[in-house]
Amino acid sequence: TDYETILIEIRGRVGWITLNRPEALNALNSQVMADVVDAATRFDADDGIGAIVVTGSERAFAAGADIKEMESKSGLDMLMGDHFGGWARFAAVRTPVIAAVSGYALGGGCELAMMCDIILAADTAKFGQPEINLGVIPGMGGTQRLVRAVGYYKAAELVLTGRLMDASEAERAGLVSRVVPASELLEEAGRVADTIAAKSLPSLYAAKAAMDAALETTQAEGLRFERQAFAALFDTEDQKEGMAAFREKRAPAFGNH
Ligand code: HXC
Repeated sequence: TDYETILIEIRGRVGWITLNRPEALNALNSQVMADVVDAATRFDADDGIGAIVVTGSERAFAAGADIKEMESKSGLDMLMGDHFGGWARFAAVRTPVIAAVSGYALGGGCELAMMCDIILAADTAKFGQPEINLGVIPGMGGTQRLVRAVGYYKAAELVLTGRLMDASEAERAGLVSRVVPASELLEEAGRVADTIAAKSLPSLYAAKAAMDAALETTQAEGLRFERQAFAALFDTEDQKEGMAAFREKRAPAFGNH
């Protein structure tokens, strides 16, 4: 499939999505949303794919929602147009998604990274929610996911001042899974993605869903969910294979069933 604003590639069991609007530092306009959501949902539906990487360019993961596209909109336009509704579908993808961030991840770009499961950052990465400088606030989940990721006080300082933070500050704050030298970012993202994609998909889905419950429910409910999901995996062939492989001191060969 050909997309206007992204490049896609399947390498082994990993689907790659590269944001490709260099003229606008990968600003997320409605076409980018449509393209990313379409590609991610297709990858998600493909059992041959066990991990997805989303990345941008060296200079920018994404510098935010497209300000020029939003500027003239009314409140009613924003409500009726469902301009960001697609991103909810992206965030609901069951396949593990890795954001490989180099350069700017601002506003919607930071929010897109936070919709992913793992954020690998180049040492050149810069994160922030500068919407306050535009007279608005984060609108793709930033006030919710950033607070959960880094805690209220760190998030409030970033959201209320619009200050950017570099990769090492973001890592210390808990926003970034790991920082790597910029020249190794894609290679490392590929390694992490390959590692994940070699696991059993049903267990990956269950792990993600259970961790979601940690963010979205009480601990008691989350623990009940985990217990059910854990038990359900004992009906998969991959559980038998994984445990037999351990006993037989060999690598498991998962079949995603
Ligand atoms: C549209 C953008 C853009 C954006 C950059 N560009 N960010 N276009 N929307 N978010 C365009 C610029 O207009 C310019 O095109 C080109 O990309 C290169 O950007 P420069 O500003 O010339 O580059 P530089 O001087 O290196 O500065 C980089 C930057 C700056 C610091 C990242 O571009 C910047 O501050 N961008 C906006 C960041 C931001 O406020 N993001 C939050 C957006 S609101 P031209 O053709 O003009 O030269 C948001 C809300 C999300 O994300 C929630 C949804 C409601």
